[in-house]
Amino acid sequence: MLGRAQRTKFGAVTVSEDRPVVVRAGPGDAAAIAGIAAEALPEPWSEAGFAEEITLPEARVWLARGSQGGALGYLVAHRVLDELQILSLAVASGQRRRGTASALLERALASEAGLRVVHLEVRSNDAAAQAFYDRVGFRPVGLRRGFYPDGADAVLLARAVSSADAR
Ligand SMILES: CC(C)(COP(=O)(O)OP(=O)(O)OC[C@H]1O[C@@H](n2cnc3c(N)ncnc32)[C@H](O)[C@@H]1OP(=O)(O)O)[C@@H](O)C(=O)NCCC(=O)NCCS
Repeated sequence: MLGRAQRTKFGAVTVSEDRPVVVRAGPGDAAAIAGIAAEALPEPWSEAGFAEEITLPEARVWLARGSQGGALGYLVAHRVLDELQILSLAVASGQRRRGTASALLERALASEAGLRVVHLEVRSNDAAAQAFYDRVGFRPVGLRRGFYPDGADAVLLARAVSSADAR
């Protein structure tokens, strides 16, 4: 793997030598984002769903690109008052464990002034996602039984935001 340990806001994680560039997604990015979601998630949003999401004033849609411009991963969140709700996060399967999701989260937090807390739901049977969120400081604050259409439970996770997250 083209990676090395590097300090980030979340401590030392493996970061690709080819650190991703994280940008706000535009309408033209919906197809690439939907492609990553279709591969990564059991109930992915459609391209039209992402395209609509990108236009919402409360939506924060971030896209990570590699040095050749290819889409590596994305993060979708909603800002409501002093809270950020992460709605969707995925990294292309061949690109994981290189710091892409960490870079997306770091950028999403650094771009929001006056943020107090970030929260999200994660499948209780998704060990990889739970390991990632634990690594970047999220802690369980609740459980919603049968939350997902296939009957899986959702673990509610939250993480306080401090001035150290702003850049
Ligand atoms: C969860 C996900 C977004 C993580 O993306 P990523 O770019 O691989 O994450 P990072 O490289 O930034 O990982 C940072 C740290 O999180 C932890 N981590 C990430 N993936 C992990 C895994 N599969 N198993 C254990 N720990 C993991 C590690 O501590 C990692 O640091 P290290 O690689 O130096 O050990 C990715 O696995 C994914 O897209 N999964 C499918 C979609 C999904 O589950 N999304 C979340 C739904 S809420």
